[in-house]
Amino acid sequence: MSLDITPVVKGEAVTFKNPAKEFYEAVGGKEGMEKLMYSFYDKIYESDIAHFFPQDEDEFEQVKIKNSKFFIQICGGPKVYEDEAQGMELNEYMVRLHDDFSINEKARIEWLGTMREALDELEGVDKELIQSFWDYLDNFSKLTVNSFSDGSTYYAEYTQVKESK
Ligand code: HEM
Repeated sequence: MSLDITPVVKGEAVTFKNPAKEFYEAVGGKEGMEKLMYSFYDKIYESDIAHFFPQDEDEFEQVKIKNSKFFIQICGGPKVYEDEAQGMELNEYMVRLHDDFSINEKARIEWLGTMREALDELEGVDKELIQSFWDYLDNFSKLTVNSFSDGSTYYAEYTQVKESK
């Protein structure tokens, strides 16, 4: 398994694919995803990007719960985040939501590194399935990066590859 972080290249379009539903099933469905994501956000609260998020513990708890719903739905679980997305396609909504924050490559690397720590705690999940989740995160997270070291901002174009069934 190579949970590598491929760099953001300013001006380069991003292609991504949603994670395999088999990943969601392998982690143990809704409860398993909650466990994984709560662990991830607990680590975020202690990370170098904690300042992006609410500092108040109760507020942060709400963020944790809401964000986990997104991950449950994007991985093929029940549509528990649907109402939040206000009728937009989930990924589209998520890209636009991050536009409101000034995110650079360093913040993205910290976010992904924290996720890698949470994924390391998974037991008995096939490496290929973890890779599928990771590939989504590695690629999709490039779309959250909008601030660059030369002081400029840029919002990348993207294509979502759909599974042909
Ligand atoms: C694969 C990449 C990412 C995904 C899938 C993701 C997902 C999410 C989700 C689901 C939310 C909650 C949206 C809502 O309010 O309903 C959120 C909020 C947020 N994300 Fe991300 N995120 C990603 C990357 C990042 C990165 C790299 C940062 C860097 C700091 C970041 C910072 C934030 C912040 C600040 C919020 C708002 C928290 C609040 O409610 O105050 N995200 N993200």
